[in-house]
Amino acid sequence: MKFTLLMIVMLIASSFVYSQKTNEDALNKKVNELLAKMTLEEKIGQMTQVDLDAIKKTPKDIAKYAIGSLLCGGDTEVPDITAKGWADTYEKYQNIALKSRLAIPILWGIDAVHGHNNVDGATIFPHNIGLGATRNPQLVEKIAAITAKEIKGTGIQWDFAPCVAVALNERWGRTYESFGEDPELVKNLGVAYVKGMQTKDLSNKNAVLASVKHFIGDGGTTNGIDQGNTEIDEAALRKIHLPGYIETIKAGAKNIMITFNSWNGEKVHGHKYLITDLLKGELGFKGFVVSDWAGIDQLDKDYKTAIEKSINAGMDMAMIPFGPDRANNYLQFITYLIELVNEGKVSMNRIDDAVQRILKVKFEMNLWENYKVDRKLTKEVGSAEHREVARDAVRQSLVLLKNDNNILPLSKQLKRIHVTGKSADDIGNQCGGWTIIWQSKSGNVISGGTTVLQAVKNTVSKGTKVTSSLDGTGAEGADVCLVVVGETPYAEMFGDREDLSLAKEDVEAIEKASASGVPVVVLLISGRPMIVENELRKSNAFIAAWLPGTEGQGIADVLFGDFKPTGKLPHSWPKNMKQIPINIGDANYDPLFPFGFGLTY
Ligand code: GLC
Repeated sequence: MKFTLLMIVMLIASSFVYSQKTNEDALNKKVNELLAKMTLEEKIGQMTQVDLDAIKKTPKDIAKYAIGSLLCGGDTEVPDITAKGWADTYEKYQNIALKSRLAIPILWGIDAVHGHNNVDGATIFPHNIGLGATRNPQLVEKIAAITAKEIKGTGIQWDFAPCVAVALNERWGRTYESFGEDPELVKNLGVAYVKGMQTKDLSNKNAVLASVKHFIGDGGTTNGIDQGNTEIDEAALRKIHLPGYIETIKAGAKNIMITFNSWNGEKVHGHKYLITDLLKGELGFKGFVVSDWAGIDQLDKDYKTAIEKSINAGMDMAMIPFGPDRANNYLQFITYLIELVNEGKVSMNRIDDAVQRILKVKFEMNLWENYKVDRKLTKEVGSAEHREVARDAVRQSLVLLKNDNNILPLSKQLKRIHVTGKSADDIGNQCGGWTIIWQSKSGNVISGGTTVLQAVKNTVSKGTKVTSSLDGTGAEGADVCLVVVGETPYAEMFGDREDLSLAKEDVEAIEKASASGVPVVVLLISGRPMIVENELRKSNAFIAAWLPGTEGQGIADVLFGDFKPTGKLPHSWPKNMKQIPINIGDANYDPLFPFGFGLTY
């Protein structure tokens, strides 16, 4: 009996391996048949990703040069930013691409880093730092799957996410794009995000290609300088910054974006050991790598030299923001790379390897079938169901740092609650960077959200009076004063800070609220821990809310006790700037609040 059982198991296992192998063989056959038909110009066209702003005046170039991919960077303009408008724009340019000689569909990439954040009315989830505080991979997988649906609702099939940076220095303007300072946490949530975004099978029509970024060491630069220099030995690089890539590749990641920063003084965009030997060789990465935004240009002032270095280092696709009216444009990329091949400086093998990798992913995505927009999904963008998941994510992301005399949760039957502070009624501050526009902005940057003030009004009883101000004044006589302060939106290098103290207006708002003699609850809306020891002393309760996104109702759910706070710090909380970088595992570790800290009711 046992013997036959063993035989059956072995038969099933070998047939599974056999079917995997035959699928792989069938895939490679399709890739190589198409490759064999392609001219050198068409091959290099597939290696070219162009920003929409750079090609919208010369759209026929998409077909003429068999451009492989389009993207919309954070500030790229489209005529209509509703989901329908984005879907119409996608369709227009995909139809042009399909007029190319071989009719290879384009992959369209976008930064949907906390929901489909370029689309007005989309569901905006907490940025990754808040998801790190949830410690909940199942939730992150669900968020990624919803984000994928909203992306596909606009036709787009490639998301430049998840960022698996391990952010070690909170001076870095991209701290909020990281799940936290711990490689294990980052790895687990990065894997969950890839699984949700790509669904079980990349050929599913709802699947979106994830882009695991930025390889490698983006969160470890000296002084947290964006695009700076990560100065550590290889053992530390592997221990801290590699796990996110090892595990997401195992989880099926088929695209990786290369980082702007240098490793010990050498730009990673031109680093053959890291891209080819480590990532593609040792880790066996079979997908394709894409540069960052004009990242190749940083290798040399001579564009042709820069292209030679990056492609030979293993870059497969170049992200090119510029059109014929600018230097280092997509026509020059194509021309120079053709020249480099004809001069023998870039081998045809290298070109074929890059194009095989790109085509293989397009076949795995069944792009020739799945390139059409599913207009049913267009209608689901920003749906109540999606927003409920975002609201739950907000609840789970909140970290309760102080709760003197259990002032929280608040009663819904208070006589009066005073809500104040610059971010009390500001959806832009709540969402943070990468919202509609690259840097986003304070105020009504996106439709469809709920601010903290609106959420409080939605939650309290009819008999409760809700008053508000912006500057901390007016709390006298209230039962409690909620002060909502923190950071205004920024992205990337524009968020690099030498000083993480609260802005003067925030310090004053908390002081005025505290001077009113009314109990004070501070809600910090920020992309990272800030220097708040004085403000902590002036408050009775203090919550880190990170960048919660559109669903502010999740904050009221916790403030008024419908849900308990469960969030845990994804970063060690520094006492002062001198302590930064301060990370779990450091010697003499003495933060204000340790990594993993979080109170509950
Ligand atoms: C940016 C970022 C990268 C983003 C890309 C496209 O500069 O570094 O994270 O995906 O350009 O917008």
